Amino acid sequence: MKPKVYITRKLPGAIIQQIQEKCDVRMWEEEEVPVPREVLEEEIKKVEGLLCLLTEQIDRSLLEQADNLRVVANMAVGYNNIEIDEAKERGIIVTNTPGVLTETTADLTFSLLMATARRIPEASDYLRNGKWETWSPMQLTGQDIHGATLGVIGLGRIGEAVAKRAKGFDMKVLYHNRSRSQDAEKELEIKYVELEELLKESDFVCVLTPFTPETENMIGHEQLALMKKSAILINTARGGIVNEDALYEALSNGEIWAAGLDVFKEEPVSLDHPLLTLPNLVTLPHIGSASIATRMKMADLAATNLLKVLEGEDAPNNVT
Ligand code: GLV
Repeated sequence: MKPKVYITRKLPGAIIQQIQEKCDVRMWEEEEVPVPREVLEEEIKKVEGLLCLLTEQIDRSLLEQADNLRVVANMAVGYNNIEIDEAKERGIIVTNTPGVLTETTADLTFSLLMATARRIPEASDYLRNGKWETWSPMQLTGQDIHGATLGVIGLGRIGEAVAKRAKGFDMKVLYHNRSRSQDAEKELEIKYVELEELLKESDFVCVLTPFTPETENMIGHEQLALMKKSAILINTARGGIVNEDALYEALSNGEIWAAGLDVFKEEPVSLDHPLLTLPNLVTLPHIGSASIATRMKMADLAATNLLKVLEGEDAPNNVT
């Protein structure tokens, strides 16, 4: 008998087919609407495998109902949506999709940095809204990227890929991480500094750490106050790492110059969120890894992880 699997969102046909060859598949058929919790609660009782997205909270109360579950394959590199300890205790393997999204997410991080520094969304609206009446000396002026100092918080794969891009812009790169990487320091010509120094010295600060109890609210009032008034904060990791109330204050009081956010504490962010009223905030709807090729690779890798575990083999990306 084929193992039973539930997929929490409509994935590309080729990926579903690949899973269907080996499993009895049920799936939430919507692309743009997440599976309702009560549906997931019913489905999880029946299956050995779950392929889910970061929009699903795979928490204790859900896992308690999952008597047959052997694997949760998350289609994301971050897995803070899953209670790992609970899964471990129950012998459920959790997998993620690292590597395949590194370069694409670094591209987006750098795009957001540039869009924020050079006020690109604002400038585009300016033209479309009929405000472009003349060329003027200080019109829509922003911050230089080339030659500036970039501070990378969290030197994982994506952090390194962002640092590499920065070098192409003649930027000086500082980083802060739980552990130092002498190899990366040599290879990328980057410098390890304490968080305080990074915040004080950087023109751009990119947040690229995983979201954990240690990194929750890692950037708050105190940290933002250390940054230069001309500095820009970019977060393409997870919303909860930067305290949004503190960021709102820092942006509205001119403590920092601007911010670019691809992620929010609550997603999708509510349209009446105070941050969205600020002209010096550039925002995106969590699209770090959103290239066609990369999303296909992520779905494919999540499927491979799922199938490997169900076939009794080691999963390439086991995080439990
Ligand atoms: C996206 O945010 C991911 O973790 O893959």
